[in-house]
Amino acid sequence: MRYALISDVHANIHALDAVLADIDNRQGIGAVYHLGDLVGYSAFPNEVVSRLQERAIAGIAGNYDSTIGTDYKHCGCKVENPRQEELAHISYEYTKRVVSAVTKQYLASLPFSLELRPLGGHVKGPRLLLVHGTPTLNTLYWTADRSDEFCLTMAKNAGLNAGDMVAFGHTHKPWHREVGGVHFVNTGSVGRPKDGDPRAGYVLVDLGESAPVVEFVRVPYEVDAAVQALTTVGLPSEFGDFLRSGGATT
Ligand SMILES: [Fe+2]
Repeated sequence: MRYALISDVHANIHALDAVLADIDNRQGIGAVYHLGDLVGYSAFPNEVVSRLQERAIAGIAGNYDSTIGTDYKHCGCKVENPRQEELAHISYEYTKRVVSAVTKQYLASLPFSLELRPLGGHVKGPRLLLVHGTPTLNTLYWTADRSDEFCLTMAKNAGLNAGDMVAFGHTHKPWHREVGGVHFVNTGSVGRPKDGDPRAGYVLVDLGESAPVVEFVRVPYEVDAAVQALTTVGLPSEFGDFLRSGGATT
């Protein structure tokens, strides 16, 4: 089964629509799932949630979704200096203020993880586990420089075996590695990439009878329109700079 996995849309409806159009133009995709962080940082949290509901795209809760959905005190995002902390606060307050009751209920209802079995639940595997950050917490950053031991510990926590795959987002930087026969796939980010490439990112994974295949996809979208929209609603210019540079500026 070939899956399209989209993560970290972060209220960027322009990027999401470009990615969905790209997926629609491809053949042979069996299902689309989202890996959370639907809201925060950009102008359109309600529109992003509505689009996913219209398309019946199931998925899981990112840290931004679960914190907004439960009225937590902050988004659980990593900050490295006082200005980043201030920006994180502005984004969180904006999102709390504009999300509708329907959106908030949807975010609160999202599951922590999803498990897929492309060959059916009547056989043991392969398994495809979807989480936002890690199998233990959606706030923990699973970066490409994490050790093999870290990866294997997470796989053990989740009960994964050789031939299985775990996919996650949260860091906004795509990567793929195989350790001990388990495939670890970071999807990257649809609406707020941090790897220096401003195009929307998602991943196609093929899992089933054959060896797993992982394909990272980048899609150009109307960055100017997304930046104009967040400026119009009064979000700081740094968020627009971030989108234009693919996270190369903070
Ligand atoms: Fe995120």
